[in-house]
Amino acid sequence: MRFVRKKENTSRYVDNIFSVTQAAKADKQAINATAGCLYDEEGKLFTYDCVYESEKSITPAQKAAYASSPAGNKDYIEAVSRFVLEDRVHNHYATMATAGGTGAIYTAVATCLDEGDHIIYPAIAWGNYKVIADENNLKPLTYDIYDLDDMFEKIDMVQGKVFLIINSPCENPLGHAYSFDEWYKIFNKLNSLNEDVVLLCDIAYIDYANNDPKAYFDLFNGISDNVLVLLAASCSKAFSYYGQRLGALIAINNDEEFLDHYLNLCSRAARATWSNLNNAAMLNIAKVLNEHYDDYMKELTDAKEMLSKRTSLFIRQAKECGLELYESADGFFVTIKMADNESRDAFHKRLLDAHIYTIKVNKGIRVALCSVPLKIADGLAARIKELS
Ligand SMILES: Cc1ncc(COP(=O)(O)O)c(C=O)c1O
Repeated sequence: MRFVRKKENTSRYVDNIFSVTQAAKADKQAINATAGCLYDEEGKLFTYDCVYESEKSITPAQKAAYASSPAGNKDYIEAVSRFVLEDRVHNHYATMATAGGTGAIYTAVATCLDEGDHIIYPAIAWGNYKVIADENNLKPLTYDIYDLDDMFEKIDMVQGKVFLIINSPCENPLGHAYSFDEWYKIFNKLNSLNEDVVLLCDIAYIDYANNDPKAYFDLFNGISDNVLVLLAASCSKAFSYYGQRLGALIAINNDEEFLDHYLNLCSRAARATWSNLNNAAMLNIAKVLNEHYDDYMKELTDAKEMLSKRTSLFIRQAKECGLELYESADGFFVTIKMADNESRDAFHKRLLDAHIYTIKVNKGIRVALCSVPLKIADGLAARIKELS
């Protein structure tokens, strides 16, 4: 293709999610289980009162202003680091503000990998990992998230630097979470490798998980010198702040000097792409975390409860009617198990015809219970099963 760089991917970009979401919005009878955003019980996008109350004090000049640096505003960086890491990480770390969790993942990939390198991520995963891999001309290797031996096999297949993405807990789309024992095994494996390893933990949904989902952060304190841990956090999910495009990349390593250089690299990459971020969003999230933390935690607890009610009801009813789901722990989604992608396509079409809007994933159909009020989730599994 003329004008564009030689390795540009010129195939037509189709956003699998946005196109179905648009169709659902146009259908008055739709059961819309497409969006990866939390909706309330009235069917409106869920928002945190404390976030929007706090936002009122931000002035037009603050909204209009550039942020103070490509790496982000100091107050935001300090507040988000404390929020994500709590008091669990005593190793060295460096944090940068990013354009959502996506910006964190993209920056991690673009700064750590060269064209032609391997990137390892789950076989059933958020579709954007592949888009990011393709965009950077990387070779994807995928693993079965339920099988650590398979993950380790894929790690062993890579010659040179290992770059592994793990999306746990609340994996999109499966809702899977690794137990502490599994994390322990993963870190044993990574720590034992002779090559450099970058572990990118996509923790976009971690705030909606139950059962102390950050317990494994303790393992960041005992990593070998060959391991760089990168956490990709998302304010889109944590604060229902999707359109504000805010997140964070937190790098953890034994070598403080390396982290200083790495942050410098990331800052330059940020300057060259988004330049700097939404100043008002950073001011506001810092304010929420510093001044309204208890209010936020209370609202978050309520939001988690609302979500848990939907998922536990749907999972129980799916079991009762024999609708086979992938095993899940918690999160925004559950996924119907499909034998192959041909039968998935046919089933997905039947669901669309019945006004039930879901998202196709590899060997599965994702049901975004985050966007379905409880009264609509009630009985939905049986309606879906009837169409199978
Ligand atoms: C698994 C996963 N990671 C990261 C993100 C990043 O979201 P954002 O860029 O809006 O923070 C998403 C969004 O849907 C996601 O599903």
